[in-house]
Amino acid sequence: MPTRIAITHPGRDASARWVAALSAHLPHAEVFASRDGDGPLADYAVGWQPPDGFFARQTRLRAFFSAAAGVDHLLDHPGLPAALPLIRLEDAGMGAQMAHYCLLEVLRLQRRSDEFETQQRTATWRPLRVEPPSAWPIGIVGLGVLGTQVATTIAAAGFPVRGYSQRPRQVEGIACFDASHGLRDFLSGCRVAILLLPLTPASADLLDAGRLSWLPQGAWLINVARGGLLVEQALLDAIDRGHLAGATLDVFRDEPLRATHPFWAHPKIRITPHVSAVTQVEESAAQVADKLRLLEQGSTVSGTVDRRRGY
Ligand code: GLV
Repeated sequence: MPTRIAITHPGRDASARWVAALSAHLPHAEVFASRDGDGPLADYAVGWQPPDGFFARQTRLRAFFSAAAGVDHLLDHPGLPAALPLIRLEDAGMGAQMAHYCLLEVLRLQRRSDEFETQQRTATWRPLRVEPPSAWPIGIVGLGVLGTQVATTIAAAGFPVRGYSQRPRQVEGIACFDASHGLRDFLSGCRVAILLLPLTPASADLLDAGRLSWLPQGAWLINVARGGLLVEQALLDAIDRGHLAGATLDVFRDEPLRATHPFWAHPKIRITPHVSAVTQVEESAAQVADKLRLLEQGSTVSGTVDRRRGY
């Protein structure tokens, strides 16, 4: 019997692309779209936010591959079998996108782009002083595969970069902090803080009013990870009382962000609709196919989620 792979993805187009790409990499497998888990019982599934009944129908899965770097959408799933191995995407083309997104935001701040755009609206010719990158210490909270790529890209542009991770890490050219230094020490030295850590029970609401106040006066926050890391009202309060200069937000607690949400109209908040790093189906399918072959040979694969840790 061929290996069967079910694709559960909310986007019809993305789903068809996954089927085509995985079939090309695994010509002997039977790959089919199954949003709800209907159809033949599969050996593996690949997807994003499987509907509630998915795992009740797909009862023979040997592993589930997240079609995303994050797996919070799976770990919160009410039907997820306790022993089912979960595997997340590692980079697969997302690191470079994330790095470009964050570098662009950092450069916009350092080069005062918003202020020049505002001046243009009133035909104002006023050269503003631009401080060099060396005056802009950038902090990356989360030094995983994506965080490390963002950190090294921004450092290569001449910014002093520090990174925070739970466990000690060493990344060349990056000042590495971990839990033993404390988040307060880390945040207090960031002119821009970039959130790039997984959402887990331990990291939920990490940036609350107290921890936002650890950032220096006038700092800017960028969230490209998950909305649940940040207490929204605390962010609004910190900006409105002038402690933070503003924020760039790509992710939100509830997506799509509702039209009446105060973030939309806030003059110091820049919003994008969860696009900082979009899954590249072809690259991702190649990675999933490689890992699936390893699993079939009985090997373990990198990116396997540690359920206790939550990523
Ligand atoms: C997207 O948000 C991802 O986790 O890959």
